[in-house]
Amino acid sequence: MKIAIIGGGNLGSSIASGLAASRFVDAKNIRITRRNVQMIQHLKEKGFQITNDNNKAVKGADVVILAVKPFQAKEVLEQIHLTQGQILVSTVTGVWLRDLTIWAGAGIEVFRAMPNTAIAVRKSMTCIAHGKVQAASAELVCNLFNQLGSSVVIDEKLMDAATVVGACGIAYVMRFIRACTQGGIQIGFSAQQAALIVEHTVNGAAALLLENSTHPEQEIDKVTTPRGCTIAGLNEMEHYGFSSAVIKGLTASYDKILE
Ligand SMILES: NC(=O)c1ccc[n+]([C@@H]2O[C@H](COP(=O)([O-])OP(=O)(O)OC[C@H]3O[C@@H](n4cnc5c(N)ncnc54)[C@H](OP(=O)(O)O)[C@@H]3O)[C@@H](O)[C@H]2O)c1
Repeated sequence: MKIAIIGGGNLGSSIASGLAASRFVDAKNIRITRRNVQMIQHLKEKGFQITNDNNKAVKGADVVILAVKPFQAKEVLEQIHLTQGQILVSTVTGVWLRDLTIWAGAGIEVFRAMPNTAIAVRKSMTCIAHGKVQAASAELVCNLFNQLGSSVVIDEKLMDAATVVGACGIAYVMRFIRACTQGGIQIGFSAQQAALIVEHTVNGAAALLLENSTHPEQEIDKVTTPRGCTIAGLNEMEHYGFSSAVIKGLTASYDKILE
């Protein structure tokens, strides 16, 4: 398997490092491009092939991953000569399969992928959308992103919503973690201890839901003793509009994306 990554910035480099770390593909079989190629010299030292020649990079690649900024996508794709049978995966926000298919040319199977920044530690939730493709190609693309965390195939019309819930979601959760840490400091912990406890608690909460396949309220019921401290804290948070604030924030992000 040979992979070309066009746009070796934050995301492109994380994908390359993650795929090599997972042993899904050897570093020597991953070509990464950017115009300022000296900026990814460190990847060459790790065994990846680097170049500023996009056409050289895509030649013979089974999968081509596009990770440039949205305004660069059209020009870059129109300059690249993809050949029949190659798979194109675009991570570019807001660029639709319809346009990608035209720019990529005939005979190319086209996918969109929306990962989040946890891809840097191989814990990304990646939403994938595609049109008419072979089942084996879809399986390959999902498998590729499963090496970098988890993936789910969604309808393309939900891709903006996926950006909000999955990619912006990282920032929302960070704010929750920060707020809990601040509260923890106020009731006696050092900043380091508070952060450690909160980070592992958030990790554990997500693991409970994923591994037990339960609803959050079921897990909440297990820790809310009648007249206890957990329900007192939860209800106080709700009086201050906790759930409402999260939902309003999420829909504000979505409205902004649609502008
Ligand atoms: N970061 C994330 O977690 C994330 C998550 C989901 C989706 N996305 C999407 O992924 C894309 C990349 O995001 P990013 O955060 O990685 O941006 P970034 O760090 O700015 O990376 C973009 C890269 O593209 C390179 N580039 C620009 N023109 C090029 C060309 N003609 N040929 C080859 N490379 C070229 C740039 O390098 P040079 O200037 O040196 O060419 C740069 O390294 C964006 O469309 C973003 O919306 C990102």
